[in-house]
Amino acid sequence: MIRIFDTHVHYDDAAFDSDREEVLASLKDSGVLRVTDIGAGIASSKTALELSRRYPWMYCALGVIPGQCSELNDETWEWLQAAAAREDKCVAIGEIGLDYHWDDDPADVQKEWFSRQLRLAAEVSKPVVIHSREAARDTIDIMKAEHAGDIGGVMHCYSYTKETARELLEMDFFFGIGGVVTFKNARKLVEAVEYIPLSNLVLETDCPYLAPVPHRGERNTSAYLGLVADRIAEIRKISTEEVLEAAWHNAHRLYKIAET
Ligand code: NI
Repeated sequence: MIRIFDTHVHYDDAAFDSDREEVLASLKDSGVLRVTDIGAGIASSKTALELSRRYPWMYCALGVIPGQCSELNDETWEWLQAAAAREDKCVAIGEIGLDYHWDDDPADVQKEWFSRQLRLAAEVSKPVVIHSREAARDTIDIMKAEHAGDIGGVMHCYSYTKETARELLEMDFFFGIGGVVTFKNARKLVEAVEYIPLSNLVLETDCPYLAPVPHRGERNTSAYLGLVADRIAEIRKISTEEVLEAAWHNAHRLYKIAET
């Protein structure tokens, strides 16, 4: 039986406003039985939380992504802290991190909120979902300074080298692999997928973004995640079923969710 856990979705996104109910209702036809909707800011986190309360098979992460740090003030930070501690369906803090590709928030502001949200995760004993782009060194340095190995979590949309993967494995982090692995120019990621132990891989769409080939450029949904599993299986020379089964167990370990 196919069982898929999509560990990183944005069904709160406006891209799903016209048909959200239909998309969500259809996911089980593709074997997608669980998803975690990831907050990308305060408003997004609030919608993610509402959705996770409505659907028993949906979980959420609450957090503020680099680029949205201006949403954080005394009032919203207080809400985030309280909701993270109180809400059972909130299984992680995220997505949080550093993004030096875009400069909507200065690096020092990004670093400050990355650290503070890592500390929040430690306080509420929940893992983190990390977004890191063109910022590998600073990301790892802050993770080490904040004892991320004790917090646990996932490096979402992994895009760095084998060498960076080794440092993250020392902290026993998970690696989120999505549609990018099917792209033609994904050579570095293919190397990382060969290198990272199967026990530390989880599947993610990041939908509505990053649809896998042959849907590249279209709106992504969890229904396409099988294509990502197929590509990982091909790279690792194992069966798709083996990839899906391992990723299913890993995702539950990541988010500390019981399998039954
Ligand atoms: Ni995302």
